[in-house]
Amino acid sequence: MSPKLKNAALLVLGRMMLRGYAMMGDPYAKVVTKSPFRDPHPGYESIRAQGDMVWSRLGGWVTTSREISDSVLRDQRFGVTPASEITPFDSTLYGRDGRVLVNPVEDSFLLRNPPDHGRLRKLVQPFFTPRALRERKPMIDKIVDEYADALPERFDAVDDFAVRVPIQVILELLGVPDADQDVLARWGSAIVATLDGIRTMKEMRELNAALAEFEDFLDDLVEQRRRTPGLDVVSHLVMNDDLARDDLIATTELLLVAGFETTVNLIGNGIMAVMANPETREPLIEDPAYAELFVEEVLRLDPPVHYTVRFAREPLEAHGVSLKPGMPVILLLAAANRDPDTFADPLRFDPTRSNVREHLAFSAGIHYCIGAGLARLEAAAALHGLFRKFPDLKVAGPVKRRSSRLLRGAIHLPVSGTPSKSSLAVKKP
Ligand code: HEM
Repeated sequence: MSPKLKNAALLVLGRMMLRGYAMMGDPYAKVVTKSPFRDPHPGYESIRAQGDMVWSRLGGWVTTSREISDSVLRDQRFGVTPASEITPFDSTLYGRDGRVLVNPVEDSFLLRNPPDHGRLRKLVQPFFTPRALRERKPMIDKIVDEYADALPERFDAVDDFAVRVPIQVILELLGVPDADQDVLARWGSAIVATLDGIRTMKEMRELNAALAEFEDFLDDLVEQRRRTPGLDVVSHLVMNDDLARDDLIATTELLLVAGFETTVNLIGNGIMAVMANPETREPLIEDPAYAELFVEEVLRLDPPVHYTVRFAREPLEAHGVSLKPGMPVILLLAAANRDPDTFADPLRFDPTRSNVREHLAFSAGIHYCIGAGLARLEAAAALHGLFRKFPDLKVAGPVKRRSSRLLRGAIHLPVSGTPSKSSLAVKKP
């Protein structure tokens, strides 16, 4: 059977199996078969009610515990072994011309175990140090001001604002010209849409087409940077002679995929949090330190990334259960962030809670989000800048959510507000 046909058959079989287990009451199957537009938290809470480590008939353990999630993420006996090693699904990606494409997730250091992981992560680390972030801050403030100042009284807070800030920052980081902003945003979205599983063959075709175009684009960019290097990530990677072409492509693609829509969702979720908690509006505009805490509380209560997975790398005992090599533990990060054993009154939105930074929105351990500092900076600047410009901003139409269980946030957020004349007089965070 051709890989394409085999994958189509496995997609259908997989969907049938999931529905079957959900009907039989499996708590995790219920979560993953529920519409991605619905609130997943009631499903997470029913898993929490069954214990800290809950077995799913899908073949793995599931946890909602913050303490256990944190411990698994830091435990070197677990790894990010690609699912392809334990499932029959052929995850190879093909271009229209039949060539094998680089997989921006599976081939990147996000899904590589040590020692490869550390070797590749180290190459881009210099772009994310506190000093690099300090140097980038004026540029982020400028982008926020430019976009906020150009907004009319009615606009889409996602399309016209939240998307614009992270894509500009990533283009700058990668050294990609502004003119390519829309096409990169389109490729990024097509790839991200399939992160929590490819549901249809159409999605598979769209993913492969976006990746083939993106790869060609990056090959050209690499050639340009070889001739005229700049201070960007691609120039930096090109100068490393030991780095294989596929690792260079995968690393660059990962930065776009991991850093774009996640941050868009954080800004969008932040805007919705202000609307839902009106008492936060004034301190967010007036107090830079509060804006930073506000972002932490959004990350805790409404995180852009809802879960991750780790696989046992050896036979092991952990948290009262035995795991065979390859067995997964699904870490429901969004549920861990509402664990009542860590967060008092977990559903209350309170940026001043004493342990507001103890959430797992950026994961933990060796795969802790490399862009966490950058995302925090972008979100604090964006939310402060937007509400400074429109202190009375309100929702002005139906909010449409993304159709993903992994990445949670709005795809359309119509808003309206009256521009403030004194917006430029207030200090930035
Ligand atoms: C609000 C925004 C963001 C969120 C919620 C987020 C979340 C995460 C999470 C949960 C992980 C770890 C996944 C795991 O442990 O399995 C991760 C890893 C990663 N993130 Fe982020 N991220 C965000 C923004 C960014 C940005 C702005 C960048 C870069 C421009 C970035 C680049 C990365 C990379 C490269 C990794 C892989 C780290 C590794 O495997 O060592 N992220 N992110």
